Amino acid sequence: MAIDSRGRERLIKLDARQVHQSHLGNMPHSNIIGQEEGCRLKTHSGKEVLFLRPTLFQYIMNMKRSSQIIYPKDIGPILLHGDIYPGATVLESGIGSGALALGLLRALGPTGRLISYELRQDLATRAERNIRAFMPQASNHTIKLGDIYEGIQEREVDRIVLDLPEPWQVVGLAAPALRMGGIFLAYVPTALQLHRLHMALADDPQYELIESFEVLERTWHIAPTSVRPDHRMVAHTGFITRATRCSARTSRTRAELLAVFTATQREALKSEGDVEDEVAEVLGMTGMGTGGRMIDLTLGDEEEPR
Ligand SMILES: C[S@@+](CC[C@H](N)C(=O)[O-])C[C@H]1O[C@@H](n2cnc3c(N)ncnc32)[C@H](O)[C@@H]1O
Repeated sequence: MAIDSRGRERLIKLDARQVHQSHLGNMPHSNIIGQEEGCRLKTHSGKEVLFLRPTLFQYIMNMKRSSQIIYPKDIGPILLHGDIYPGATVLESGIGSGALALGLLRALGPTGRLISYELRQDLATRAERNIRAFMPQASNHTIKLGDIYEGIQEREVDRIVLDLPEPWQVVGLAAPALRMGGIFLAYVPTALQLHRLHMALADDPQYELIESFEVLERTWHIAPTSVRPDHRMVAHTGFITRATRCSARTSRTRAELLAVFTATQREALKSEGDVEDEVAEVLGMTGMGTGGRMIDLTLGDEEEPR
């Protein structure tokens, strides 16, 4: 990584036959090879350039992209909320440019395994190049070319991590692929996708501990006489939803409850007082609703699980 005096970063692959050319001047790679990390070298026009091995963060921000990527701001929380641990088997889709895959591989370590389902050959190739350039030793990574909406072959997977347009299509397929206690996690950029995904998980009795959130990061300007937030920030990237695969609930799902009771019936139940008891009696169950939470049938048509 070459960094100029204004902090501008440029990723370079060292090759003794090449010359690094930039607006600051030229420098043969042979001058850089063998130098200590963090060294400052002068170009032929006398301008100073700082050289460092890229961190994973810097590499992701500077590598070639053929798709939108997940930024380090979200990759960090994904790794912890998804509980990605050394030795785990993780299935991800799609691979895009490989940014998230790099974070997953780093967290999985050499004993873990990553399987990436990807629809497009060109993106699979781009991601593979990006990953090999940073982690040439990552032999525990397999890219499977195909449509994950058509099915998941793997079983007893520890984690499933998704970054694709319709993750709700994977909710039902992911449950039999995940081991009990396994984690489903998906990243989506819009609130409409977030709502549809969260509801699909809530309606599936095989998932519990469903949580959705976003991460905001604000950088600060710090100088001798001024300490304040930077004027500009990335206000939005995407939402993260996670859920845990558990044995199926026996109580009815929200979708089933809503299918059973018409709006008129709910109005009638409401006037009878103890709605939960009434529901339990009618459905022959305990009155439990989505995700083990009570469903308030007194709210009307737009009621949400609490
Ligand atoms: C936004 S990109 C993923 C970016 C990636 N997470 C990264 O950080 O670089 C979305 C990817 O999902 C892939 N995709 C979309 N639908 C898919 C499907 N049904 N099955 C497999 N991959 C799919 C796209 O081809 C694309 O590569």
